[in-house]
Amino acid sequence: MGIPHFLRLFCVAFVLDPGLLQGNAMMGSHEEAADARRTDARRAEVSPSLLAAKRLSLGEEVALLKSSGADRLHLDVKNGHFVPNLGFDPDVLKALKAHTPLPIDVHLMVQDPLGWVEPFQQVGAASLAFHIEAMETALEEQGDVKVRAQVKALCQTIRQGGSHVGLALSPNTPVACLDPFLDCVDYVLVMGVVPGKGGQTFLPQTVDRVAAIWELREKQGYSFKIQVDGGVTPQNAPRLWEVGADVLVAGTAILGTPDYRQAVQALRPS
Ligand code: DX5
Ligand code: ZN
Repeated sequence: MGIPHFLRLFCVAFVLDPGLLQGNAMMGSHEEAADARRTDARRAEVSPSLLAAKRLSLGEEVALLKSSGADRLHLDVKNGHFVPNLGFDPDVLKALKAHTPLPIDVHLMVQDPLGWVEPFQQVGAASLAFHIEAMETALEEQGDVKVRAQVKALCQTIRQGGSHVGLALSPNTPVACLDPFLDCVDYVLVMGVVPGKGGQTFLPQTVDRVAAIWELREKQGYSFKIQVDGGVTPQNAPRLWEVGADVLVAGTAILGTPDYRQAVQALRPS
């Protein structure tokens, strides 16, 4: 998935540092800064992605996750337009809410996400994250100013409906695209893989992207959380905590194992 044309123009307008476009600016040496930015283990959260759950026993899977020590749950929504496959719908969220006290975050991998906000809020989505790239169809003809206004309006709609709002970034989307929205998001969802499927290999450049977003946040004094989704494993988790991730989402690394409690524990910061 390439960067949509409107995003290229849009991001260039907000780049303060050319390296930020690639997500690797302002880093200096990772090693130097790592100690200062290490995520506070008491606040770090692990969020199992239900895409990897057994469909025929979703209720039992969610019950098992409740006793696994997971902090929240992650529900992927796909309708064949932004990504080619299908995911969960609001009826599934409604049914799951009866089985778990954990907050459920909805990850909207759909084109033009506005229409999906209310149906998921009505059934208790704790948060809704939408992809900045998914605004393309409605916005490609309208120019930068309108794009900005529409993204901000969607953030406001989600907050007014009572959910936290997340802005999701696909791997090729420059980190600089976030700049105009830092004041209107509760979290940034940084994809560690091309969105759509579980079980993919983590893209290593994600580490630098998380670090760049952490620096943006700290320099500008915001308090949004940084979630990482896709390809998270016990091997890359320590580095992600180190560069400033607040929440790690993991499907295969938890639900693809026989012991969910142990798998959640293996992802936590030591
Ligand atoms: C991928 C989804 C993820 C997915 C992660 O597009 O958004 O939430 O379930 O699965 P793993 O952890 O297996 O990469
Ligand atoms: Zn997801």
